[in-house]
Amino acid sequence: MYINENFIKLPQSYLFSTVASKLKEYREAHPDADLIRMDIGDVTLPVASCVIEAMHRAVDDMASSDTFHGYGPEQGYPFLREAIAKGDYQERGIDIKADDIFISDGAKSDLGNLGNIYSRKSVIGVADPGYPVYVDSSVMDGRGGDLLSDGRWSRILYMDCKPENGFKPEVPARGVDVVFLCSPCNPTGTVFTRDELKEWVEYAQRNKTLIVFDSAYEAFVRDPEIPRSIYEIEGAKEVAIEIRSFSKTAGFTGLRCGYTVVPSELKGMDREGNEFPLRQLWNRRQSTKFNGASYIIQRGAEALYTPQGREAIKGNIDIYLSNARYIRKAMEAAGFEVYGGDNSPYVWAKLPGEDDSWKLFERILSEAEVSSTPGIGFGESGAGYIRLTGFNSPKNTRKAMERISRINFKKDDALEDEFKSLNDIKAIKALDDLNVLDDITEALGL
Ligand code: MLT
Repeated sequence: MYINENFIKLPQSYLFSTVASKLKEYREAHPDADLIRMDIGDVTLPVASCVIEAMHRAVDDMASSDTFHGYGPEQGYPFLREAIAKGDYQERGIDIKADDIFISDGAKSDLGNLGNIYSRKSVIGVADPGYPVYVDSSVMDGRGGDLLSDGRWSRILYMDCKPENGFKPEVPARGVDVVFLCSPCNPTGTVFTRDELKEWVEYAQRNKTLIVFDSAYEAFVRDPEIPRSIYEIEGAKEVAIEIRSFSKTAGFTGLRCGYTVVPSELKGMDREGNEFPLRQLWNRRQSTKFNGASYIIQRGAEALYTPQGREAIKGNIDIYLSNARYIRKAMEAAGFEVYGGDNSPYVWAKLPGEDDSWKLFERILSEAEVSSTPGIGFGESGAGYIRLTGFNSPKNTRKAMERISRINFKKDDALEDEFKSLNDIKAIKALDDLNVLDDITEALGL
């Protein structure tokens, strides 16, 4: 048999696997290392008690033939689809129905699997830097073209995100078939305003583009002016699929549950220009290749829509956001240019004069025993940046920043004045708005 050669065109390893193997090497070489993980966005707070109780009840259901659940609906159980439609959309004035919701084992799977329902010839548009699954899965499906010497793929349209455009992809002059948008953005932490999203919806309408809107981090948005769903924009139901996750909001990274919204209004065309509802294709794909998320996990996710569940999510996100704010301030004080960290768990940072992300990663790892994600792993425009996450505990976050603050990042004496050295952790403590972290840390005994 012949292999899918697109796989051999791809770089050897997925970004987070490469980081993980570098950390493994480091641990082997330094068995006593007290490594603090701030690389992959994996959460640290436990799952809410109401979710645990709901899952215990669901486990008990499996023990009796009256309440046992075998294969579930591939689209997800109606109890969860209805809770999502009501809790995440209708109560916020957005007309999304239970039938529009497809439950999955997480956003990452759906982002990759969606490629099954659009043409192999589709031209893909991605923000650079961006979540690597968009590009890697497109390449696996044969939509990449050739790997160019600058590390980019010949058939993919890259939209550069730099400080000058606030790290937000701008509507391109040419049309593409499918565009991946992420807000709050992984990795830069930036968010689209209502007007910016409106521009994207209009672009999609003009060009018959499908927007794949990754809103895995929507629960981190605290600014009421910032849209949490693309369906807050008029006309979006005709052009966009929205993908969400319970991973970061409710600690489901290990449990696995997310969902994808495919509104009935959304259509694609065949070569003759005949229109087909994408919902029909996605339903066909899911019922053929997926047997649904586990009943127990879906019962757990349903509990997130109770008042206790909502309260727990808010509490978790308060902590992660306050970690992110802390990281942001500490990195600024250490002399970095810093972005994100508001309405987002991610902080995106660059050390002036250092253009090599992996070098920065290695230096922070060896001198502070703190792991980060090299920005270059998210795309060429990420060169020189690192991404830090607010998902560790407040105590570890504080410890990590204290260690980073002790690294002497100064390159030469001439730069000395430009760095507000943070060699004394008191400098961080003096930042009034961070006192909240002390209270949380103490209250939780973290
Ligand atoms: C990240 O760190 O970007 C994410 O945790 C990765 C993921 O969700 O797959």
